[in-house]
Amino acid sequence: MKKENHISYEYFKNSSELSDIEKTLFDRAKQARENAYAPYSNFLVGCAILLENGEIYSGNNQENAAFPSGLCAERTTLFWVAANFPNEKIEKIFVVGGPREFHEKNPPIPPCGACRQSLIEYETKQSQDIDLYFSSMNEEVVKVYSIKDLLPFYFDATFL
Ligand code: THU
Repeated sequence: MKKENHISYEYFKNSSELSDIEKTLFDRAKQARENAYAPYSNFLVGCAILLENGEIYSGNNQENAAFPSGLCAERTTLFWVAANFPNEKIEKIFVVGGPREFHEKNPPIPPCGACRQSLIEYETKQSQDIDLYFSSMNEEVVKVYSIKDLLPFYFDATFL
């Protein structure tokens, strides 16, 4: 029996189409991207997280000479937020990435598989979906309404 699983997402041709809070998150993620420590890949990623209390926290990718010891912007930011505000729900996450010398044609940068798995953990924990936005420096933006949309057939604590 063939089954289908479709996701809905929103596409913004330009950040001018975003709401005020979304624009703020985009700006915070872009600022954070400037401080990425990415001397090996020269691929800079920034992330901004909006909590339900209205606070915004940001982070970026951190690389290491021993390559696997580095961490993506999403997990750097997510783990810091989870460590410091374990009971505060996450409402929105904005990710902006691209090569240090970016091009108009660089597409929006979606979270890697490992980050999706980490993000799902906290979405499940808080029993509330998270809006996730990803973008390139050319200001095209994709929004999904849940991390689950990026990771169908996800593995979580219910299987343990
Ligand atoms: N990276 C992120 O920070 N987030 C992503 O979603 C994709 C990749 C980082 C990891 C590494 O420092 C660099 O980008 C190149 O993969």
